[in-house]
This record gives sequence, C-alpha cells and structure tokens, in this order.
Amino acid sequence: MQGVRSLDCSLAMSSLNLNVDVNQNGDIKKADTLDDINDIDFSKLLEKPRPLNIERLRSLDERSLTELSGSPQLRNADNASRVHDHADYVASPSVGRRSGFNTPRSVHGFESHPMVGEAWDALRRSMVYFRGQPVGTIAAVDNSEEKLNYDQVFVRDFVPSALAFLMNGEPDIVRNFLLKTLRLQSWEKKIDRFQLGEGVMPASFKVFHDPVRNHETLIADFGESAIGRVAPVDSGFWWIILLRAYTKSTGDSSLADMPECQKGIRLILSLCLSEGFDTFPTLLCADGCCMIDRRMGVYGYPIEIQALFFMALRCALLVLKHDGEGKEMVEQIVKRLHALSYHMRSYFWLDLKQLNDIYRYKTEEYSHTAVNKFNVIPDSLPEWIFDFMPSHGGFFIGNVSPARMDFRWFALGNCIAILSSMATPEQSTAIMDLIESRWEELVGEMPLKVCYPAIESHEWRIVTGCDPKNTRWSYHNGGSWPVLLWLLTAACIKTGRPQIARRAIEVAEARLHKDNWPEYYDGKLGRYVGKQSRKCQTWSIAGYLVAKMMLEDPSHVGMVALEEDKQMKPVMRRSNSWTC
Ligand code: GLC
Repeated sequence: MQGVRSLDCSLAMSSLNLNVDVNQNGDIKKADTLDDINDIDFSKLLEKPRPLNIERLRSLDERSLTELSGSPQLRNADNASRVHDHADYVASPSVGRRSGFNTPRSVHGFESHPMVGEAWDALRRSMVYFRGQPVGTIAAVDNSEEKLNYDQVFVRDFVPSALAFLMNGEPDIVRNFLLKTLRLQSWEKKIDRFQLGEGVMPASFKVFHDPVRNHETLIADFGESAIGRVAPVDSGFWWIILLRAYTKSTGDSSLADMPECQKGIRLILSLCLSEGFDTFPTLLCADGCCMIDRRMGVYGYPIEIQALFFMALRCALLVLKHDGEGKEMVEQIVKRLHALSYHMRSYFWLDLKQLNDIYRYKTEEYSHTAVNKFNVIPDSLPEWIFDFMPSHGGFFIGNVSPARMDFRWFALGNCIAILSSMATPEQSTAIMDLIESRWEELVGEMPLKVCYPAIESHEWRIVTGCDPKNTRWSYHNGGSWPVLLWLLTAACIKTGRPQIARRAIEVAEARLHKDNWPEYYDGKLGRYVGKQSRKCQTWSIAGYLVAKMMLEDPSHVGMVALEEDKQMKPVMRRSNSWTC
C-alpha cells in the first residue's frame, strides 16, 4: 500500500514543470537536486488515500536505541524501528478530521472554553497559501505594528500550528509545508560571498505575488536577511521532528520514505555529524541561532540546541531508511546519541547535590582524574542560584563550556529534554518538581518564562551588547512566552503530572484571549503585555490549542515524545563529596 502511494507521488512529480524561485535580492536560484519536485502541484501530490481515521493507543512505546545499535538490526536493512513507530495505530472510524471549518471536534467538553473556538478562527486566519495550497501559517496577523519579518512563515513557529492541524486530522498543510521547505533547502545559500552548508533549512519564508505576471514565488531567509545574520540551527531539527510527528500521526510513511526527504534528513544531519576539532559531542553554535534569535549569551553549547539536536537524532532514527546511504548515517547517529546523552546527563545536570559539589570544586586540575573537568571557578557561581535551587528538583543548565557554566533556566531546552528522553525519568521528575516549587518565578501570571533569571545592568550591557529589546524581564531576557505552554503540557503529560499543565493553562486562559494573543509578556511575574510584543501571534494561539488538545487526548503526546532508551543509563560521576 505504501509502495503504491510513493509511486503515485513520484509519478505526479515527474510530470511537473521546472520552476525557478527568486530570493530577496532578486537572484534566480534553481534547485540543483530537486528539480523534479520544483513547482509541485500539490493537488496531484496529495492524491492519496484520505488520512486514516486513527485512534491512538495510549502507549508511547518506542524501540530501544541500543537495540538498534546492535549490528544485526542495522544490517537488517528493513527498518524494524520505523515500522514499530507506527505500530500503535489501529483504524477507527469514530475519530477523525473535525467536521465544521472552524469547529473543533468535541469529545469531552473540549470546546467548553469559548477561547478554543476563537483560537481556531485566529489560527485559520493565519494560514498562508502558495498557488492555491496551504503551506504554513504567518508568524503574526498584526497590522498595527511594523511587520519586519512577522509576515513570514517561520519554521519553528509553524511547529505548534502543524501539531494543532495534525491533532485535528488535517495533515495536508503539514505535508505541503514539509515539502516546500525541503525544496527551499536545495537553494544555493550565500551571505555576501560565503556559501552556507547544503543542509541548512530556512528560518522563514514568504510568498511573493508578482501582480504583473500574476505569478507566485517563494522568498526564503536562511539567515542572510535575519537581524544578526545568524543561520537558524534549530530549523533543520524542527523539520525532522515534524516529519516524524507527521508520520506518527497519520501512519503514512510515504512522505518520509521519499528519496528527497531521506536526502533532506541526511543533509541536515551531515552538518552536525561531520568530524572536526570538537572535543565534546554537543553542537557548537553562534549566539541567536534558535528561538532566542538575538545576542543573549546563548552561544557555545546552548541547551535549546543540544536538546533539539538530541530529539532530531532520535526522530531521524525512526524515519531514516536503514539501508544504503541511510545505514551509515544511522550508525553515526547511534554513536553520537550515546555520547551526547552521557555528556548532557553528566555535565549539564544541576541539582542541590551537584550545585554543592561545584561550590566546593578544586580548580586547575589536570589529566584524566580531574573532577572539575571544565575548570569552572566556584567564584563564578551566581548568587541567585543558591536560593533558586529547591531541595527536590533540578534542571539542565543553559550552557557548559571551558570555565563557563551558564546556570540560567531555559524552558524550551528542558521541556525538549523531557520529551526526547534526553533526561532520565528521575531527571524528568526533578524538572517537574522544580517547576512546581518555583512556580511564581517560572510561571507567575503568564506561562512560561523563556529563561530565568533576567540579566541586568553591567552584565546586560556586556552579554546583549546593550540590546534595547532585551532589557531585563522583557522578550528573550526573562520574558514570558505563551507558546511554551504546549511544550510544558506535553512534558507534564509525559511525566504523569497533567495537573501542573492544567494549572498553567488556567493562568493563561485568564488573559491570553483578552490581550489578543500576545507574543510575549514582560515583568518578573509576566504581568505586562510585552513592550514590543506582536498581537495575534500565531504560535501563542497554536500553542494554547495544542496544550488543550493534548490534555483532552493525552495520546497526542506520542507525536512529540519518545520513550527512554533503557540502555542509556545515567552515569555515576565521581564527585568531591564521594571521594575521601
Ligand atoms: C522572534 C522570536 C523567534 C520567532 C520570531 C517569529 O524573532 O525570537 O523565535 O521565530 O519572532 O515569531
């Protein structure tokens, strides 16, 4: 059945015209590898059986990584793990696409909150069409502010929209988005005279309508137009994560199986898996290459990128074909995952005991016996961390590199750590404990702080370069972002603590719609609509919907969660207090 579907797709594609796209400078760019899917007629491509009406079982079982790393399985080209990833679906005629255009399906009084209907209407208003087909959602439908690039479809912003559509039984827009962005990946990307890696995915794109020729083309930004000129390292990871969510949700692997998709995954990961001067398995990157896309001291090895990298590697294992070129990459991925989980669980993890150990660190150690491997000077520990750390609880800190630990809390990285099982079950529980005990600081009057605490005064000047948008407790610098609600909710459900999510959603419901879905809130408690916050921000809307739908039907979490690989055990580290 799937074979037939892939054949349909490739036949549809090969009959299509060649097309060229124009970038922002007006340069003509031609796909060098994907000519065939250039100018895809989506209606043909989507000529496939309607998505199965599926009922998801509540099991989140996945195949163990280490099982996969065993050479017999790898040699067995036939992707048992990929099959297994879809195995928890059974056909059910009773659940499927929601009927009315604007009306979400109601099963257990889900739409009882009037905000849900409003949110669906707003989400649909944000849909972007390319040659008649929906291909994404615009970042913000806010005409009152200068648009900048908020009129674009951002890859990271589209993820919660995509999940909302998938959960609502509307996978077509997600499929179109995945194919269109894949097509953009094959562009030649240049900043001045420097060419970016082939695998780089765009931060965002928009549809350009030429009124004279009455023709639509896509314009993409890979960082060459972005403020700060940083390439979005997270885009490729989100793309892989979304491809797996699509496959998991629809049970349709024909998209992921397309040679173009397989190649796209390999190109993205080749950027990260190539050998170099690295001494750590973490990914070295520039400031501002992820959701926090301005200078905020998130250069080096930021937790957001490391967690997304881990999640994308695990998702890639589930959608990559384990044969031919895929097999070699699978082997690389498995090795990297083992090293990465060890590194993250050992060196990024902070709880009371670990904090106390660091506080008592000796410095200037040399050789393999060093405990303080990165030579962190205890005097560099910030004051706030001693009060912030609860007796029960812990989290992955913001960054670890030579002589530098960034102790700030970052919400996205910690939630993804839970969802990807980069965190052990004990660590996941500890993160939830921390959120509960530091509720006022991290949730306050609007979920959820993007990072905590804010940097101020001299430190703000040095770290942000005096960024007027990132003043203390505003925007990326300790601002509260409603979009993070979906990640929090997914993490809560995965750790068996849905009541925490319910509480956070209630807090958000008190204001979000009334305030017209702001992008972010300011202030220590998140009491103020952000200084330059856009209204009608799509991922605030979609994040809320996804959170609500997951609470209503927790099996949806399976789209974005991976069970722990039992073999990746936490490491017992030598620590000062254990050595006598
Ligand atoms: C801001 C955010 C970024 C987001 C973009 C569009 O730049 O920092 O994460 O993708 O807005 O909403």
